[in-house]
Amino acid sequence: MGLSQDNILRKLFRIVNYSLELLLVRLYNKSFLGSNDIAAQFHSLYYSSPERTWNNTRWMGYRTMRCPLDLWVYQEILYEIKPDVVIETGTNEGGGAHFLASIMDVIGKGRVIGVDIEEVDNRADHKRITYVKGSSISNDIVKKVSKMIESDHVVLVILDSDHNMPHVLEEMKIYSKFVTKGSYMIVEDSNVNGHPIMPNWGPGPFEAIQRFLEESNSFEVDKNREKFYLSFNPDGYLKKRTD
Ligand SMILES: C[S@@+](CC[C@H](N)C(=O)[O-])C[C@H]1O[C@@H](n2cnc3c(N)ncnc32)[C@H](O)[C@@H]1O
Repeated sequence: MGLSQDNILRKLFRIVNYSLELLLVRLYNKSFLGSNDIAAQFHSLYYSSPERTWNNTRWMGYRTMRCPLDLWVYQEILYEIKPDVVIETGTNEGGGAHFLASIMDVIGKGRVIGVDIEEVDNRADHKRITYVKGSSISNDIVKKVSKMIESDHVVLVILDSDHNMPHVLEEMKIYSKFVTKGSYMIVEDSNVNGHPIMPNWGPGPFEAIQRFLEESNSFEVDKNREKFYLSFNPDGYLKKRTD
């Protein structure tokens, strides 16, 4: 009984949260159309119509809240790096994880470890995906994840959970250690807080990236990964230095 009440409350919270978000992005898009920057204008237009764009993007039937141009870049990175393991925080329905697993099927190697604080109904099922439930920054979860990785594994990390700066920064500090030299730590949704969308979001992934780079020189931003002009992850493709 308690559990189902909890589920109903979570669903209600999601609906209210989503409606507010939709209202905000629409208002913002209206005020943005004066800009001369075509890429930023398109970014704003794309983001402010979630019901036809980012909230309605599917891979093999499973929703993934990602920009298809970023998914294409993921495919290119996976082919180049051929990771043994991808750690994805914030797996949600598993659409993004399923996309990665499908590419791994074609490449012939790789597993996805998906971490999420919630266990979403009808999550994508794939033999290459292992789901882990809990907060990405909790000690228990980090221990669980590290036990699933061998010392000779090539590891890539994608951070797509809580998009507030303190959480992202903490995740970056924790999960950067798992990333193999020459591989990537991808920080999703650094476009919020005015980069260029949702200027009132507050410090988020973009600010966490800048702070992380001030404190550590083991990664560099790979701007080439933003070649398609629209990326949800400005400065978010971080390559681990090989020297
Ligand atoms: C933007 S969605 C992720 C979208 C998903 N990667 C995709 O491809 O569709 C964010 C997810 O992060 C999860 N989340 C929020 N805080 C978290 C935390 N502390 N640890 C792990 N997951 C968290 C939420 O439950 C939600 O499912």
